[in-house]
Amino acid sequence: MKRSESVWDSVGNTPLIRLKSLSEHTGCHIYGKAEFLNPGGSIKDRAAKGIIQAAEADGSLQKGGTIVEGTAGNTGIGLATLAAERGYKVVLTMPNNQAQEKYDMLAALGVTVHAVSPCPFANPDHFYHQAGRLAKETPGAVWADQFENTANAQIHYDTTGPELWEQLEGRIDFLVAACGSGGTLGGTSAYLKARDPAIRVIALDPHGSGVHDYFKCGEFTGDGGSVTEGIGIKRLTANLVRAVVDDALRVTDQAMMDMLFHTAHRDGLFLGTSSALNLYGAYQVAMNNRNSGKTIVTFMCDHGSRYAGRLLNPSWLEEKNLVPRPLF
Ligand SMILES: Cc1ncc(COP(=O)(O)O)c(C=O)c1O
Repeated sequence: MKRSESVWDSVGNTPLIRLKSLSEHTGCHIYGKAEFLNPGGSIKDRAAKGIIQAAEADGSLQKGGTIVEGTAGNTGIGLATLAAERGYKVVLTMPNNQAQEKYDMLAALGVTVHAVSPCPFANPDHFYHQAGRLAKETPGAVWADQFENTANAQIHYDTTGPELWEQLEGRIDFLVAACGSGGTLGGTSAYLKARDPAIRVIALDPHGSGVHDYFKCGEFTGDGGSVTEGIGIKRLTANLVRAVVDDALRVTDQAMMDMLFHTAHRDGLFLGTSSALNLYGAYQVAMNNRNSGKTIVTFMCDHGSRYAGRLLNPSWLEEKNLVPRPLF
């Protein structure tokens, strides 16, 4: 085990875990990258590091400066986790309908959060546009802009992709992942396809997001909604544009929830909703390639404890009509 001399250095190099129950049932090898073990508890620590690194390098982020971001929570937590050690302030805009645990974590980290009403992206009051304005109005501030700042996908190209390649010694048949900003899929798929063009990349998507339709027919359509947090997008971001994708799959909230409780009970991993959606996508690909011994990799983006107030609340599950069923 390597030693880290700072929180900064402890981002990434996460374990890659074979999901025994899913692998044995399908006759494939399903691996999840344990991104919940990053210091801020999610895959977004990588994006935060890439973005801060780039802003320091181009001189836009100076000593004592402020980082402004619009976030569903995890990017803000990642930025705050890394900013503390380096002496930056963090100011966030965030929709007010996210899991309470994320606001609690941000409060613990001493970050200013402007919780705003959720609205369509075209509305100037969307948390994304509010963050852009706030950054402009704040002296010495930079806007992290995880969606359009390509330092996000770049760090996945530089770290996540090579880690997966090394951990599986290049034996990867499928990469499957959902998108929030598109950074993870953009950077990782570009790296892995460059190493081996035969690797099949499948974009996963919850209902209410346009990524599935975009890769299937070139348009960001798609209706409905999803209880998943941190994933789903209806526009082509500068990070998503890097993604090299062969196919797309939509995953229902019910299937995601079945997987969430399956891995908790059968694999000892209580994961967040995007991780469960990713694992369901991996499972579906494995079922389509049953007993082939194929290797499928995905991301376990954050931990279920970040959503415990919802996931472990029977009335919330009932209200959402999402009572978990056995997967098999
Ligand atoms: C829990 C969770 N999973 C997945 C993602 C998606 O990652 P990306 O933004 O790299 O597409 C996010 C992004 O915020 C997230 O918070």
